[in-house]
Amino acid sequence: MSKKLAIITGAASGLGLALTKHLLSQNWRVCMADTNATIGDQLASELGDDVLFIPTDVSIYSQQANLFAKAFEFGGQRLDFAALNAGIDDKQSLYSTKEELDERGGPKELNLVTLKVDLDAVVQGIWLFKYYARRNADKKGGKIVITSSAAGLYPMDTNPLYTAAKHALVGLTRACGPRFMAEDSITVNCICPAFVPTGLCPPHVLHLFPKEHITPMSTVLRAHDTFLADDTMSGKVVELSLDQLYYREQPDWANDSQRWLGTESKSLWDEAYLSGS
Ligand SMILES: NC(=O)c1ccc[n+]([C@@H]2O[C@H](COP(=O)([O-])OP(=O)(O)OC[C@H]3O[C@@H](n4cnc5c(N)ncnc54)[C@H](O)[C@@H]3O)[C@@H](O)[C@H]2O)c1
Repeated sequence: MSKKLAIITGAASGLGLALTKHLLSQNWRVCMADTNATIGDQLASELGDDVLFIPTDVSIYSQQANLFAKAFEFGGQRLDFAALNAGIDDKQSLYSTKEELDERGGPKELNLVTLKVDLDAVVQGIWLFKYYARRNADKKGGKIVITSSAAGLYPMDTNPLYTAAKHALVGLTRACGPRFMAEDSITVNCICPAFVPTGLCPPHVLHLFPKEHITPMSTVLRAHDTFLADDTMSGKVVELSLDQLYYREQPDWANDSQRWLGTESKSLWDEAYLSGS
């Protein structure tokens, strides 16, 4: 049987690169995607024949679609896993006091690229994965692990847009995970790492960071291994801190009415959305 094929976005650095090397050591083929083509090409040639690097800005749909098409071909008509991992922090501060005006004399539009990369691109990644996973030659279905963040569970006031996107990924995982597993044999889970030293952190901050609050890369890889080894978990959110994995459940229902709406009103919604699918 051919080797398993993974797509990893944001693979030229940090978590994505560590996961690439980890999967290669376990006999996978990996399609690495990143905007950094210089490093990506260099890494691909160093890492050998089981790696294909596709320069990709995941926030541009046509580029991500090209990535999935090329990866499926590279895998010999198979796609087993996507780590939807690329992410960036806030690129313009919501709190900025610098006032740039547009032609009408009002404030210029805020730069929302963080939402495009950290949220929109992940949704499109799931959309593309579903298409190819249904066409897998051997076994239909596959696995998706989304990289959210501890900022998907707790607010990070310095990065409100990053916080919003990462919280949204938690909701997205919980909403679609169980259903994709039931309908397409696709598991969708997400990881919420605490602080892991990578390129995301400015070097001068890295230098100052107390060692006792650093989560090692081994915890991130263990979480991926756990989701890759399991066909029954989907819609799960795991917080990664230090050497521990903490499975985080959705909040308790506030009262019986909320529980009914969340669990038993499904048939009403199914009927309401029937014509729109
Ligand atoms: N490092 C941490 O402490 C930490 C904690 C929680 C969550 N995360 C998340 O982990 C993920 C990976 O981050 P990292 O820490 O490895 O950072 P990193 O900066 O080391 O790596 C991110 C990679 O993504 C690439 N990238 C950025 N925008 C892209 C785009 N539009 N399309 C494709 N590639 C793009 C970058 O070029 C880079 O190679 C991110 O989603 C981040 O939010 C990181």
